[in-house]
Amino acid sequence: MKQKRSSFTGKIGFVLAAAGSAVGLGNIWRFPYLAAKYGGGIFLLVYIILAVTFGFALMCAEIALGRRTGKSAIAAFGYLNKKWSFVGWLVALVPVLILPYYSVIGGWITKYISVYLTGNGTAAAGEGFFADFTATTGEPIVWFLIFIGLTALVLLFDVSKGVEQVSKIMMPILILLTVGIAVYIVLLPGAYEGVKYYLMPDFSNFTIATVVAAMGQLFYSMSLAMGIMITYGSYMKKDISIEKSVRQIEVFDTGIAFLAGLMVIPAVFAFGEGGEASLGKGPGLMFVTLPKVFDSFKGGHIIGVAFFIMVFFAALTSSISLMETVISIVRDKTGLGRKSACGIVFAGSVIIGLPSALGFSIWDGIKPLGMDILTFFDFISNSVVMPIVAILTCIFIGYIVRPKQMINEIEAQGATFNQKKLFSVMIKYIAPVFIVLIFIFSLCEAFNIETLFGIQILK
Ligand code: TRP
Repeated sequence: MKQKRSSFTGKIGFVLAAAGSAVGLGNIWRFPYLAAKYGGGIFLLVYIILAVTFGFALMCAEIALGRRTGKSAIAAFGYLNKKWSFVGWLVALVPVLILPYYSVIGGWITKYISVYLTGNGTAAAGEGFFADFTATTGEPIVWFLIFIGLTALVLLFDVSKGVEQVSKIMMPILILLTVGIAVYIVLLPGAYEGVKYYLMPDFSNFTIATVVAAMGQLFYSMSLAMGIMITYGSYMKKDISIEKSVRQIEVFDTGIAFLAGLMVIPAVFAFGEGGEASLGKGPGLMFVTLPKVFDSFKGGHIIGVAFFIMVFFAALTSSISLMETVISIVRDKTGLGRKSACGIVFAGSVIIGLPSALGFSIWDGIKPLGMDILTFFDFISNSVVMPIVAILTCIFIGYIVRPKQMINEIEAQGATFNQKKLFSVMIKYIAPVFIVLIFIFSLCEAFNIETLFGIQILK
């Protein structure tokens, strides 16, 4: 069935749509806890360097690949070279792995909305509230089902456009709110230590693990190495500058992550027991610290509800686009109708997501590679499958189709491409070698191999 591909209207349409997919829990929930855990300022520095080099090259490559072929990720590789269609399959695996645990965290957000709405904001600020909540067996599952159920309903009734409209209004408010909260926190007594930790790179905190985590975060946050940007590129009009769009998406995405870090990390120092002890808290960091902030001033609980509602919408648009990706894969491969495909994806995601939801309660003894189950899924997708996809994408573009073809695409209709050199060199040499290296290191980290060829990997 040949359908004409619809395209984004206007210049800003593309950037907004791509940024909408990029901005989500990755920026608000994931970035701050990784930055806290992996050395603060040094993590931020490494992340920014990676974003303007790797992130830039990869995102340009993916969007150009999509626009050039006019195909979604699954088909784009095979379209240019039959032998490479397997990459399409690997790409398809990523959202299948991410959607379930993403929805578990979406469930936590939903739970916190209800906590504030029922007037329990003070309780949420109490020590151990988050740990107690995730340690109950049933509750995280119920919230997970609510969140993923909502996502499925939106897709079933085809109202995702409506949700997008709503979140377009929410997004600027979320940014303002985040700025406001960050300013408030930074001015609190004790917060200065945290600001220093976050903004001043301390090179003694640098480990290979910092780079590994920053790289995984880059893929995750920018929705790279999973075909999303290829699909977006296939909808992009030829007269829009890919380079400029990528720069804008990058600044936007990194800016929001930066602000979220400025909100969460100094709060750890201002409110956390013993400050730095909380830095390694992991996935729960935001849920542990922010309620304390919201409980510390008059009207804070109202800000709390508002904040979690905005984050809820940012998360929902992301989960919708993740689920839609999986549904379209299922439909392409099985020819099923929209509703049945939606049902199958929903059921499958519930099954894959349950272990992540249970990993903090009855299954907290199960620690694959020493991680809780949710972190394990996060690790497999971001630190294993995505790097592999990224390496293959670089090799594919660098040596099979050649960067020239992508550069031509980016320069279509007289558009300029200032960083062509950077692009080619990144894609052909630096990115693949570097990603292979850090991929090896990340496996070492996971398997607790402390030194490799005499290089100290873990601290
Ligand atoms: N980038 C999103 C975030 O920061 C998460 C994400 C990864 C995503 N892959 C995606 C969202 C695909 C939508 C579609 O939260």
